[in-house]
Amino acid sequence: MRRGGALAEFHDLAPAEESFRDAVLAGLTRRAKSIPCRFLYDARGSALFEAICELPEYYLTRTEMAILGEFAPEMAAEAGRHAQLIEFGSGASRKVRLLLEALEEPAAYVAIDISRELLRQAADEVAAEFPQVPVVAVCADYLQPLRLPPLPARGEGRRLGFFPGSTVGNFTPEDAVDFLAGCRRVIGRGGALLIGVDLKKDPALLDAAYNDSAGVTAAFNLNLLERINRELDADFDLDRFAHEAFYNAAAGRIEIYIRSRADQIVTVAGRAIRFAAGERIHTEDSCKYTIGEFQRLAARGGFRPGPHWTDRDALFSVHLLEAG
Ligand code: AVI
Repeated sequence: MRRGGALAEFHDLAPAEESFRDAVLAGLTRRAKSIPCRFLYDARGSALFEAICELPEYYLTRTEMAILGEFAPEMAAEAGRHAQLIEFGSGASRKVRLLLEALEEPAAYVAIDISRELLRQAADEVAAEFPQVPVVAVCADYLQPLRLPPLPARGEGRRLGFFPGSTVGNFTPEDAVDFLAGCRRVIGRGGALLIGVDLKKDPALLDAAYNDSAGVTAAFNLNLLERINRELDADFDLDRFAHEAFYNAAAGRIEIYIRSRADQIVTVAGRAIRFAAGERIHTEDSCKYTIGEFQRLAARGGFRPGPHWTDRDALFSVHLLEAG
């Protein structure tokens, strides 16, 4: 509900639109079929992901929220007074509210997201809820080199990047280093990054989190085929494909695939795509780290480890990384 009349300042950096058709055809015609996980998030996929976050087996979201809820005052103390809080991939700007409540007189909240309408709405809601905080919405692809507009500043306040959710786990470690180096450039010397990272743990807990009993993760994954049917005039028969997710301990990651249950040919945008029985489309990885592994990765991206916080069962971690 709106308490004040404040609106966010909006900057459209006009992120390039990627062709879903080109990406799908390229992914389905290579030897090991794969489609990048960012395409899982159309409107239905995003709604299914929200439902995943509520599942009993999917501990990540509620555990990170609990860590933020408990330790936000310590995180805010690290950030200091008058910080400029910059969220990469802000989405609905839900978790950041816990930080905004704890930060001392933040100079600005900068929400960066590629999804224009979601960004506009979420940023306006934050602006109305925190009328004392200048809110700047930047429509941009945070994976591309980013030049922010001039931001409201107060005194000596420093920049604090925010990247929750363990989305960093969906990058390969090499891409994670590139992403961190990009954040480091945006944050600048003297700034810091607060980042949520899922931890290595009992593989049974990990397997359950990505194979929930209600089948929501399966629906989320298979929605990719429905999206291809809807948008690319394809004829995937969903009963002939299955969700598959498992923890690859050697690689330290959950791997997610769509497996063909039979020999079959599917037409996608006028192209015939052959599947052998058991053949898979790789749709997502979700890397898990130990605290030390992630700190070493962050160092490769130009960050010194600061404090980190975990829950009592060491399921999830939130790291403060110092931009050297
Ligand atoms: C967005 N990301 C952190 C989720 C994860 O856990 O890797 C995506 C997800 N895929 C299936 N379930 C959740």
